[in-house]
Parts: sequence; C-alpha cells; structure tokens
Amino acid sequence: MNTQERWHASMQNNYGVPAITLSKGEGITVWDEDGKKYLDFLGGIATNILGHAHPAIVKAVSKQIEELSHVSNLYGHKPGVELAEKLRSFTGDPTARVFFCNSGAEANEAAIKISRLTGRVQIVAALGGFHGRTAGALSITGQEAKRKPFEPLLPKVKFVPYGDIKAMKRTISKRTSMVILEPIQGENGVVVPPDGYLEEVRELCDKKGALLAIDAVQTGMGRTGEWFGYELEGITPDIITLAKGLGGGLPLGAMITLGKKVPAFKPGEHGSTFGGNPISCAAANAAVDFIVKKDLLEKVAISGEFLKAQLSKIPGVTSVRGQGLLLGIVLESNVANDVAMKAQQNGLLINAPAKNVIRIAPALIVDKKELREFVEIFDRTLNEVLNG
Ligand SMILES: Cc1ncc(COP(=O)(O)O)c(C=O)c1O
Repeated sequence: MNTQERWHASMQNNYGVPAITLSKGEGITVWDEDGKKYLDFLGGIATNILGHAHPAIVKAVSKQIEELSHVSNLYGHKPGVELAEKLRSFTGDPTARVFFCNSGAEANEAAIKISRLTGRVQIVAALGGFHGRTAGALSITGQEAKRKPFEPLLPKVKFVPYGDIKAMKRTISKRTSMVILEPIQGENGVVVPPDGYLEEVRELCDKKGALLAIDAVQTGMGRTGEWFGYELEGITPDIITLAKGLGGGLPLGAMITLGKKVPAFKPGEHGSTFGGNPISCAAANAAVDFIVKKDLLEKVAISGEFLKAQLSKIPGVTSVRGQGLLLGIVLESNVANDVAMKAQQNGLLINAPAKNVIRIAPALIVDKKELREFVEIFDRTLNEVLNG
C-alpha cells in the first residue's frame, strides 16, 4: 500500500485523503515523499510564520527539549513568562493578561468562558466567520454547513452579516456578553470589512457594555504587517485570541485580555495540560525575536503591496484583497479549486477557500525572488486552467 492508501485505511475521513505526502521542508520550499519540490505559499495555512526548519526555531526547540519539556500547569517556566511579557508589550497595554492553550479553537473557548463571567450569555458573531471546530468555537462559527450536523450547540448565539454595522446595531443589546469578529475573515475567502467597521463595532460594544473579542488566530503574529491585524483600525479590543503563527509551527494558542472590563479567571476556573508548554513557548519566543530583529512587519507590508500590484495585472484576476501576506486572489470565474490543483502539479501550494478565491499565506521570511517565482507560476497556472 502507498501512503495515501495507508492513510485512507487508518485515518478518520474528516480531511479526505491528502493528494500528496510531504516529507521535508526548508524555508518556503517543501518536498513530497517522491522528492518533488513545491513552493509553499500556504505556510501550513498561515502557521509556519518563519517557514520550515528555520534555524532559530530548530535551535530554540532543541535547547529547550534538552533542558525541560513538560511541567504541567502546577509549575511555572521561563519560556512561558517571557512570551507572555512579549505579547503584553505588543498590545501596548500593561493590564494585558495571557492564557496559553494549544490551538485557535481552544483560545476561542477560553474567550467564550471568560465572557460568561460577565453574567451575560448572548454572543454576537459574524456570518461567514470561522472560530474553530470544538463545540463552543463551532457554536460561534457563522457557517451553517459546519454547525448543522452537530446541533444543538451553545444557545443564544446571534449571527450578523460581516461588515454590516446596521445589522450589528440591531442585534447587540444589554444582554450581549461578547461580540467576536475576525479583522479579516480568512476561511471565508479573505474577506475584508469596510473601513471603520471595527471602530463602529467598538463604539457599540462600549454603549451596550459588551466585550469585543478579536479573533486574530489567522491574521495575528505579523501576518498583516501588524502584530494582531486590528491595529490599523485604531481600536483596542477587550480580548485577543491567537494561535497558528504564534508557535512558529508548533502547537500554541493564546487568549489575551485587555483593560478592566474583562473579568479575570480565578484559580481553578480554566486550564490546559499542554497549553503554553515550554517547547512551544521556546519556539514562539524564537519566532517573535526573529520577527523583531529583522523588522519583518515592515517587510510583510511591502511584500503584500508588491504581490497585490503584480497579481492584479494577471488576466482572469478580478481583484486582490487582504493585507500583508494574507491575500485572497479573486478570480473572474469559479475555477479556484482547479487552479489550486493545477498549481500543485506545477509545484506550488495554495488553496481555495471559496469557489472563486485563491488564498495565499506564505511565511513572513519570503524574499523578492520567491515572490516573483510565485507570480510566474500562478500566472502560468491560471492561464493553463482558463485556456486549456
Ligand atoms: C480565525 C480563526 N479562528 C480560529 C481557528 C481555529 O484554529 P485551530 O484550527 O487552531 O483550532 C482558525 C483556523 O483556521 C481561524 O482561521
């Protein structure tokens, strides 16, 4: 049996059977088990923030696993404290407090639980939004097809069209504990809200005494050219959730509370065995330090602008949306799946979150030569799909 057949025979079918099996990675290049090379412009879906096998992460993780791997949450450890301090400094808010977990869904579960401590129950979330697959995170995910087979889920969740401030105004009330929104809806096809939307939602939350949670799981850790993806909007949320890029490729999530309005967990109210373990935190510290040292946030913004300009010129592309290195290439027709498949054959990894949208989320270390190579393969691939 080949690896696909073995996968099919032994794994749950929730992901289907992957068409290729990867065996090695370096920077933004990966190889499959047959030695075929790919340019990885999906980055583990916005996760491998410094690419594959980055020397800074390899060194930090190797050192940490030799010294101390797991301590449980009964004991403290320095990599965790150091990372929490760094995240706190990126928020610019000395009241910021961090809870570490392993994933984006868990970070949002923590946000849901902490919002319950306000004494209110109702949550307002956006249609098309994605917050994870666990029962709580799924309850606030605005994609009916994903929720339906598992209902009943959490009660008192209301969904509003993303970017529609009037609908938000009609829905948010004095019973609302929390509004949760992505700064850019990644899984929904890299959908960007109108300018000023988050600012107006912030005002509404303040008026009704509701918390504002920003799910920066996909947009965070420098992907948009800012740390958390909401800063350009000029708002301060009450809660930020993070995962994906945070661990530099290792499993790590975080929920950060800001300001005085958010209740605080008391000892015993929440926890996670592996959450914020020393090895994932060591990887995250290394990734964050590298981003700061190399001024990657600025480079991400420049790379994003370069890609937008180049990709917009390609026949068959209607527009390019998103920010920094989280971009949605909107196609004139519903051929995104065919394009992603053809790209794979052509040695390029990208995906299709919507019928007419290709998403790219390469590592933040991607250089100009790799950006040009990507544009060349993408252009050729789209042309092959559209013109046979
Ligand atoms: C915005 C957002 N929130 C939450 C999640 C869930 O993260 P995880 O798969 O780590 O549970 C995702 C994953 O795609 C996401 O994009």
